[in-house]
Amino acid sequence: MSENFAELIIGGKKLELPIVEGTEGEKAIDISSLRRESGFITIDPSFLNTGACFSKITFIDGEKGILRYRGIPVQELAEDASFIETAYLLLHNEFPNSDQLECFSKLLTEHSMLHEDMRHFFDGFPRGAHPMHILSTMINALSTFYPNVDALSLIDDINVTAARLISVVRTMAAFAYKKSIGEPVVYPSADDSYCANFLHMMFDSPVKKYKVDKDIVKALNQLLILHADHEQNCSTTTVRTIGSAQVNLYATISAGISALSGPLHGGANQAVMSMLESIRQDGGDIEKYITMAKDAEDPFRLMGFGHRVYKNFDPRATIIKETCHTLLNKLEIEDELLGIAMQLEEVALEDPYFVKRKLYPNVDFYSGIIYKAMGIPENMFTVMFVLGRLPGWIAHWKEMISKGIKIARPRQIYTGKTLTHLSDIVK
Ligand code: SDX
Repeated sequence: MSENFAELIIGGKKLELPIVEGTEGEKAIDISSLRRESGFITIDPSFLNTGACFSKITFIDGEKGILRYRGIPVQELAEDASFIETAYLLLHNEFPNSDQLECFSKLLTEHSMLHEDMRHFFDGFPRGAHPMHILSTMINALSTFYPNVDALSLIDDINVTAARLISVVRTMAAFAYKKSIGEPVVYPSADDSYCANFLHMMFDSPVKKYKVDKDIVKALNQLLILHADHEQNCSTTTVRTIGSAQVNLYATISAGISALSGPLHGGANQAVMSMLESIRQDGGDIEKYITMAKDAEDPFRLMGFGHRVYKNFDPRATIIKETCHTLLNKLEIEDELLGIAMQLEEVALEDPYFVKRKLYPNVDFYSGIIYKAMGIPENMFTVMFVLGRLPGWIAHWKEMISKGIKIARPRQIYTGKTLTHLSDIVK
């Protein structure tokens, strides 16, 4: 086998399949000619071993617990950058200078208002509607208000569309929360930063002025940065797949939100809190839940634990855990659930079941405790994941579109009934 080709002997033929290598040494066998040359396809349910694309946006090394956006370690961005600077970096493959940042910030402010006619959409949702479903619906509806959004034309004004999505989704999220508690919505301000604006829209009210806390703003910036992208996760793959049919960006992002809402994906941050609360109500019986999680017959899983890619600590979880302690100490909040989470982590990391399967806390394990300390309700936790992940989704959509759109259409192996005539079964 030459170092640039993999030899495959199949169907009595010897094929040479090119080996491709990424900038970080990842290697893959290019099978794009396989079916044409051999009649065979490959099969890899849930794509555990299959790469869908080449990308320059995010690099993850799951074994080493490395995460970088456009080559920059996420730890450095979480410490020294703002979410808006990170969003710009993901979208444009360069860290913004002051002029670029000012221009992007102006676009975000300009597009922070929700179309007044859309404000009334909220009245149509039942009071208990989950904000993720509201958000997915409202974003899809944006394409009715901004109709000229077909994929190819968008590349010209992607900056406007990206800014509109990143900014107005924040407004929609806050409006959805206000509607759910029966309070009047609070409009965005032109003077606040992205995170301060969100907190103000969420918690200010005509009778109780909300004073933005700089520690909460810093923690929220960091959380959004840590959620901003994660290469080909389920929701990003959804965005790339739907976008490949030349669906407009709003409908594409709406689909990404639906994928993220799943409890195995972004919905886990809300599921973690329910799990910790159950353990608390159960007298803190950690062992009981560890035993349930290990029982193959029991569908219970330790939410916020495990990851398809990280077989080491999720670097985001490490940072979020530290921020959790820092913020709760600064706010002088004692949260019993934090103690339970830490005990759960300690027991699990010693347990052979979790050690053998390399199951560690992931990004969702501690994030809910911080959101709760900020006053954000549990049903909004995954919405916070959407606010963070938006720039990543748009960056992947933009990368896919810019390479020339080829519709995503996987093959399959059919295992159903062979030829059956209707006349043979309907007498
Ligand atoms: C996110 O992909 C991304 O990058 C996602 C994300 C992003 O930023 O976009 O990082 C965000 O989605 C984080 C993950 C949030 N989900 C959860 O916390 C839900 C709980 N975790 C599991 O459901 C699971 O770990 C997944 C879904 C995260 C990963 O599932 P995989 O890769 O398909 O692994 P698997 O289910 O095949 O598990 C392998 C083994 C199994 O045991 P065996 O059959 O080998 O005996 O590990 C066990 C599983 O039963 N296992 C767990 C477990 N996770 C895996 N057992 C108990 N508790 C768990 N949490």
